[in-house]
Amino acid sequence: MASHQETCFPCRQGDRSATVIALMDTSTPSPSGDRPLIRLEEISFAYEPARPVLCGCNFVLCPRERVGLVGPTGGGKTTLLHLIVGLLRPSTGRVEIFGKLRTKEDDFLEVRRRIGLLFQDADDQLFFPTVADDVAFGPLNLGKPKDQVRQLVRETLAELGLAGYEERITYRLSGGEKRLVALAGVLAMQPEVLLLDEPFAGLDEQTARRVLDILARLPQTLLVVSHHQDWLRQIASRFVCLHGGKLHEQ
Ligand SMILES: Nc1ncnc2c1ncn2[C@@H]1O[C@H](COP(=O)(O)OP(=O)(O)O)[C@@H](O)[C@H]1O
Ligand SMILES: [Mg+2]
Repeated sequence: MASHQETCFPCRQGDRSATVIALMDTSTPSPSGDRPLIRLEEISFAYEPARPVLCGCNFVLCPRERVGLVGPTGGGKTTLLHLIVGLLRPSTGRVEIFGKLRTKEDDFLEVRRRIGLLFQDADDQLFFPTVADDVAFGPLNLGKPKDQVRQLVRETLAELGLAGYEERITYRLSGGEKRLVALAGVLAMQPEVLLLDEPFAGLDEQTARRVLDILARLPQTLLVVSHHQDWLRQIASRFVCLHGGKLHEQ
């Protein structure tokens, strides 16, 4: 039986507001001396006008930061990640990524090359019949040579405990296996920033710990959504809670 806790982070509202951070100008270096990679300013979004999901959301992610994004189910965490990579557009507010304002589809092409998103539902991420083709798609699309990609696919799968999965049929994999293959596809692209939407969902404890070790060793800037408080603490050093349509620093 798994011994880990699955408690959700309590949102400590009224703490230091993310607004404070949002007031920083992107053109001004952050306290660490690095310019923000992601800056969301007063973002509002609703799927249906009567039910707003985000209402004046502010967020800044600086290079090498490792941030845990928590909050109640249905609070808008997935929506926020989709707004960052341009799968959704805000009704109001500014999305600034890598120092540039992003509004049109064209603006987000570069964003999606440099920011890797692990979808909450692996079925939204996997398109190719075989595991090898799926993991290879991203790096090939970035123009990496085929031989190098083949090697990268093999190494990435092995690291995730999926050695020998290359010819397996993706749609026949279990939910946990699909999640690992989707993660392999994101890692193989070697993006500068990783947005991981519930990377541990559907994984047994041993597999989750392997993923945790890999994430802990990654040099990239991370924004990770998870309800696993203990695991998130091992990879994130800053926490933000999405509650009531706004982000609150923890
Ligand atoms: N495509 C959609 N159409 C309408 N409502 C949606 C859609 N996707 C999500 N929602 C709703 O938006 C809210 C935020 O969803 P989501 O971002 O998935 O939250 P979280 O990831 O924090 O659980 C929820 O109430 C959800 O039901
Ligand atoms: Mg979600």
